[in-house]
Amino acid sequence: MCGIVGYIGYRDAYPVIINGLKRLEYRGYDSAGIALVDNLKPVIYKVKGKVSDLETFVGDGNRNGYMGMGHTRWATHGEPNDNNAHPHVSMNGKFVIVHNGIIENYSFLKKKLASRGYSFKTDTDTEVLANLIEYIYLFAKVSAADAVSLALRKVVGAYGIVVFCVDEPEQLIAARKSSPLVVGIGQNEYFIASDASPFVDYTNQVVYLDDENLAVIGKGAVQIKTIKNDIVNAEVRKIDFDAEEIEKGGFDHFMLKEIFEQPKSLRDTFRGRIDEHHSSLQLGGIMPVMPKLINARRLIIVGCGTSWHAGLLGEYLFEEYARVPVEVEYASEFRYRNPIINSEDVVIAISQSGETADTLAAIQLAKKCGACVIAICNVVGSSISRVADAGVYTHAGPEIGVASTKAFTAQVSVLTMMALFIGRAKFNISAEKYTELITELNSVPEKIEELLKTASAVKHVAEKYKDSSNFLYLGRGCYYPVALEGALKLKEISYIHAEGYPAAEMKHGPIALIDEKMPVIFIACQDKSYEKIVSNIQEVKARKGVVIAIVSEGDKTVSAMADHVLEVPKFNTAVGALTAVVPLQLLSYYIAVMRGCNVDQPRNLAKSVTVE
Ligand code: G6P
Repeated sequence: MCGIVGYIGYRDAYPVIINGLKRLEYRGYDSAGIALVDNLKPVIYKVKGKVSDLETFVGDGNRNGYMGMGHTRWATHGEPNDNNAHPHVSMNGKFVIVHNGIIENYSFLKKKLASRGYSFKTDTDTEVLANLIEYIYLFAKVSAADAVSLALRKVVGAYGIVVFCVDEPEQLIAARKSSPLVVGIGQNEYFIASDASPFVDYTNQVVYLDDENLAVIGKGAVQIKTIKNDIVNAEVRKIDFDAEEIEKGGFDHFMLKEIFEQPKSLRDTFRGRIDEHHSSLQLGGIMPVMPKLINARRLIIVGCGTSWHAGLLGEYLFEEYARVPVEVEYASEFRYRNPIINSEDVVIAISQSGETADTLAAIQLAKKCGACVIAICNVVGSSISRVADAGVYTHAGPEIGVASTKAFTAQVSVLTMMALFIGRAKFNISAEKYTELITELNSVPEKIEELLKTASAVKHVAEKYKDSSNFLYLGRGCYYPVALEGALKLKEISYIHAEGYPAAEMKHGPIALIDEKMPVIFIACQDKSYEKIVSNIQEVKARKGVVIAIVSEGDKTVSAMADHVLEVPKFNTAVGALTAVVPLQLLSYYIAVMRGCNVDQPRNLAKSVTVE
């Protein structure tokens, strides 16, 4: 939700910030803006649209300056227009600010400031914060950094901010709470951004700011303290992803690249975890909490969007192998109930970004109730990975496309490894079976590699049904979450209405929708509910529905009934979900491209949802 980049050093700040913003556009792309500090004065450009629109708008204008800040927005308060775009300037022009998050008590603060003579030019909560900082600065006659700290102590809500004060023009002030900020430390230059991708070309030394930390970034040093003025001895860490990973690498879109990267990303997920004989698993991240996991009364899996779908698959896996009761919850629902949790429960939070506000809040609630929390995250050093008691990184590499693909298969792979690991530790799985299951899991990257060679068959189906207005996705058992994920992918990027359902539930409602115009996608791989799903397909055919079936290779029965079949490798276990989802990812991709949609930046969405 909004991307922030700040720079202070010896380079021209404009290209550093603009290129950095482009890498953060996955966080929002309603409007974009930049403030450069030239001759100690801010020069500001902001415009509705994408970073490329900002570049056009700047044109041949003044682009000088060795420091500055930029912002790409996902609107919360105030419609996306030029005026509401960031940066915002305080009423007397003393402060310039970019902000990611929501100031929840902004209307209370706005009224207070208005009663003290402040007026507002925009509808944003950010301008209120700018004016609050300025008011404190002028009234209390403190330093800019102290004014920021004091203002933030009055704020309820979430913020990642970068602030510039015209009276102290050789420094940037950054602070965060519940919205990520990372400081990049180069040689005589510093970067600040919502994640490290904007500055990986320049440095791999980073400091992750913690909640309520404030960094004063000058030309030669960074000082970090809390907003209550306590000095923080922040750890400088080394990050290990390179710039190539965040380029399109010859693909038309990040999403396509990420779909095709799955063999590699899964190998990375397995690396160092599956031994060469496939007889054991190493999950160092959860070792400290294994006694808790083995003795857990219940597992509660929380997540949002695609991560929640991975959680639903986790339910099958943990119940099957670890033999422990599992509940899967939308983080946003869980956090607002009064859930009954105690220290015998283990909560598993799944999040690609590790920054999703609802998932983070669910973790905090679970911890307060005494539960042990394990995180499954992709982004190393993210907020969720840092607040959890233990965790397993998916190591899928940066995922830029807003629609999640490789992160999903990596999450499901981690859940599979965890379920097997716990199952074996509890003696639910024999050594022989354990090896068989690990071998099956380890074969998935190679199987996906083969499967991707048949992408043109999926394209053919896409061509035929790209103009449909509705799709139904049906699956049973472990293929039910796959159906949900397939439907989500289609609606996210092609704006076609799509619903996922357990196949047997079809007759309790969705069957009423079926006619010759309704493509119904069945995930009909051969497993224990295969016979049942065959009957469901017949029910659809009897009502003239169009059936597109994902089937296990060599399938004859469904192939004889369906209008189109797409074959996937045959598995006897829930591992099949990892391959069955791939043609559905491709189908949504091709349909979206054929409909002229912006695949990587679908309307209204953002990849990292750091607001409620
Ligand atoms: C957004 C993204 C989805 C993602 C969800 C959860 O809605 O567009 O792709 O699944 O957030 O994100 P997380 O980073 O927590 O997995």
